[in-house]
Amino acid sequence: MVTGASRGIGSGIAKRLFELGYSLGLCARHLPEHPGGRSENLDSSTPTVVRSAVDVTDFDALEEFSADVIEVCGRIDVWINNAGILEPIGPLADSDPLNLLRHVEVNVGGVLLGSRIFARHVRSRSGGGVLVNITSGAARSPYRGWAPYCASKAAVDMITEVVALEEGGSGLTAFALAPGVVDTSMQELIRSTDASRFPQVERFREIASSGRFNSTKWIADHIVELLNVSGADSPVRVRVPDEHVEPTKN
Ligand SMILES: NC(=O)c1ccc[n+]([C@@H]2O[C@H](COP(=O)([O-])OP(=O)(O)OC[C@H]3O[C@@H](n4cnc5c(N)ncnc54)[C@H](OP(=O)(O)O)[C@@H]3O)[C@@H](O)[C@H]2O)c1
Repeated sequence: MVTGASRGIGSGIAKRLFELGYSLGLCARHLPEHPGGRSENLDSSTPTVVRSAVDVTDFDALEEFSADVIEVCGRIDVWINNAGILEPIGPLADSDPLNLLRHVEVNVGGVLLGSRIFARHVRSRSGGGVLVNITSGAARSPYRGWAPYCASKAAVDMITEVVALEEGGSGLTAFALAPGVVDTSMQELIRSTDASRFPQVERFREIASSGRFNSTKWIADHIVELLNVSGADSPVRVRVPDEHVEPTKN
């Protein structure tokens, strides 16, 4: 299961997992495209893909969609809570109160609800499962202009830590995965923000001009590696390494 799969990191992860042969449940508010570039599961040799337009803050819709995926695919082994938003950007004191609350509803509420549904599914059958909650370096570093985002990603880290403690006994392994900087519409939004609302904007413009992004294939392959190391002793908080490392000088 990948939430927020209509574009950006979620759609890139879905494409790579499809290439690797994983059956997929994909959702976002806009119907995600089929990662194999076709609209239906026409060929029985290709992985099954179940797609739906679901808002992750709508618990009933998310639970109903997960039940559909379980019915079609038999079970869900890996659940990636990727859906997230960055806005509102700017000093907290200048932010719209309703936008602040909506941010928490999506980034924290959506992860709580998805984690709850998956934890209960893993409890209900044998064989364990892997929960991947997409977090950010902003969970640990305060950025002026990002109060809701820094707070919501810190919450994602703690939700994941607690679920790992609570559900380890039923075989669930949980990761809070920071993907590094990835060139998506969220990064475009960051780069287009005025420095008066986000003073660190220049750092992100420099990353873009040097092209030092992590690709979604790189992130998906890292997630697949995590599936092999999952278990009681694995660390909960992980950061995808930088794909473009400066060559060391002799
Ligand atoms: N890009 C980066 O450099 C970076 C770095 C660190 C962490 N992240 C995290 O990575 C995740 C993906 O970010 P991205 O860069 O790929 O952003 P993006 O391009 O803006 O994509 C966000 C995805 O989330 C979905 N989404 C947003 N609100 C939703 C809702 N209420 N219900 C269901 N789906 C929703 C969007 O689809 P719809 O609009 O169709 O709903 C879209 O598919 C986020 O959690 C973000 O915080 C990104």
